[in-house]
Amino acid sequence: MSFTTVPVALGARSYDIRIGSGLLAEAAQHLAPLLAAPKVILVVDEAVEMVARTMLLSLAKHGIATDIVTIPAGEAAKSFAGLEALINRLLEYAPDRKTTLIAVGGGVVGDLAGFAASILLRGVDFIQVPTTLLAQVDSSVGGKTGINTRAGKNLVGSFYQPRRVLIDLDVLTTLPPRELKAGYAEILKYGLIMDAEFFAWCEREGEKLLAGNIALRELAIATCCHKKAQIVGEDERESDRRALLNFGHTFGHALEAEAGYDGSLLHGEAVAIGMVMGCRLSEKLGLLAQGSAMRLARHLRAVGMKTQLSETGHAWQVEGITRHFVRDKKAEAGALTFIVLEAIGQASILKNVAPELAREVVAEMLEGTWST
Ligand SMILES: NC(=O)c1ccc[n+]([C@@H]2O[C@H](COP(=O)([O-])OP(=O)(O)OC[C@H]3O[C@@H](n4cnc5c(N)ncnc54)[C@H](O)[C@@H]3O)[C@@H](O)[C@H]2O)c1
Ligand SMILES: [Zn+2]
Repeated sequence: MSFTTVPVALGARSYDIRIGSGLLAEAAQHLAPLLAAPKVILVVDEAVEMVARTMLLSLAKHGIATDIVTIPAGEAAKSFAGLEALINRLLEYAPDRKTTLIAVGGGVVGDLAGFAASILLRGVDFIQVPTTLLAQVDSSVGGKTGINTRAGKNLVGSFYQPRRVLIDLDVLTTLPPRELKAGYAEILKYGLIMDAEFFAWCEREGEKLLAGNIALRELAIATCCHKKAQIVGEDERESDRRALLNFGHTFGHALEAEAGYDGSLLHGEAVAIGMVMGCRLSEKLGLLAQGSAMRLARHLRAVGMKTQLSETGHAWQVEGITRHFVRDKKAEAGALTFIVLEAIGQASILKNVAPELAREVVAEMLEGTWST
């Protein structure tokens, strides 16, 4: 049983991330020692039901009582209605305070089941089994859970840490290439904000990683989990440093909101373009060497990702995009705050960014006056 372990140091709430191939077939070995009682409920994205069955076999063999609740695929499940439905179904299995919930799916199921765990019977243990690349390098680590509301995404939730994150690389074989690339954008993010060498490594190995090289995937996922663990260990509740993980996200969230969350622009796809815009903003502010945005765009293009708004098939308007900046959770009292780069591998939080400058970045992306 070979795997990589990445610790998340949070005092009494510390936990390990385990990364490797074939871990779910041995789920009991990895999880049984953590269980307060031999009773778990798997909360499973319908797209990965087979994965849950594999886990169930292992758990049942070790005498662990296992129930399964299936969640329909897609962001709509992450809502008040989805939460209510999930909680009611969980209660049908008569859980007690020693029952453990196991989230098996992408960021949607992880966020939803994590939130449900934090309020079910005033809090039961939960374990993350992320099955998308995005969830493996980002959403399953760090304890942010929650749902979307009419007013916006992720506005209701809790900080609630899992007891373990179990990452099986084999589950990625069924993930559509588009989803894989969307997750890859978040991998690049860690290089851009905190590790120039890792970014250069991605430039060299990214294509092979995306094509299916397991060893490269394991290394990249472990590196990202390690970096996220480091940031979360320093600033669990995002009072400052954790915000660096939002690089490219103010632009990206605005694009997602404008696209209407209809699946035409995935979060990671929006973040990829958003990071190019974040680099452009940083260049315009005189913080980042000219040519950095171009370097990022070149690599995105090399792995088959979009870097231009014109490629996304939407009728974008500058005002349509910029109006979302002030609604971003990071906006304090109307002033714009952006995560900027001072170099590839070094990010900082910049308050009071002139809205005109952010507008200029959007406009040049739309007009194609800055082109790759
Ligand atoms: N909590 C956090 O810190 C955090 C961080 C980033 C994103 N998020 C949230 O994560 C969500 C996005 O996560 P996501 O990109 O994983 O989306 P997702 O959970 O919707 O999964 C994407 C798609 O892939 C399918 N899928 C999942 N695993 C699969 C597999 N192994 N094979 C085939 N199909 C599979 C799903 O059914 C879905 O259709 C958003 O709601 C976002 O807000 C949370
Ligand atoms: Zn993101």
